[in-house]
Amino acid sequence: AIDPEFEENRDIAEDHEGHSVWGPVEEPETLGIHGTHVAVDFDICIADGACLEDCPVDVFEWVDTPDHPESEIKADPAHEDQCIDCMLCVDVCPVDAIDVDPG
Ligand code: SF4
Ligand code: F3S
Ligand code: ZN
Repeated sequence: AIDPEFEENRDIAEDHEGHSVWGPVEEPETLGIHGTHVAVDFDICIADGACLEDCPVDVFEWVDTPDHPESEIKADPAHEDQCIDCMLCVDVCPVDAIDVDPG
């Protein structure tokens, strides 16, 4: 599961489409955590898609991640600023790849 303390335990490695990526990042097999308010651990995501289907405000978009060992697409929190903290995505992800911090 995603580390809920990732902000303390990781450093920002890069920026992706306006959100932070928390490292380590070593493409293609290590991709880090994308987003901060809505955070997706790309190294855990298996591209189940439930988060994209269920998010009422369409926070997520698919991004291509060729040659990643878990899946070749990932749910990117492209619009994390739109999140209304319903927590549905956290509940439906089968591998607990998502952390939403309502603060
Ligand atoms: Fe979307 Fe709700 Fe998840 Fe926020 S908590 S990203 S609104 S499903
Ligand atoms: Fe990935 Fe979980 Fe969404 S596996 S696609 S973050 S439901
Ligand atoms: Zn991203």
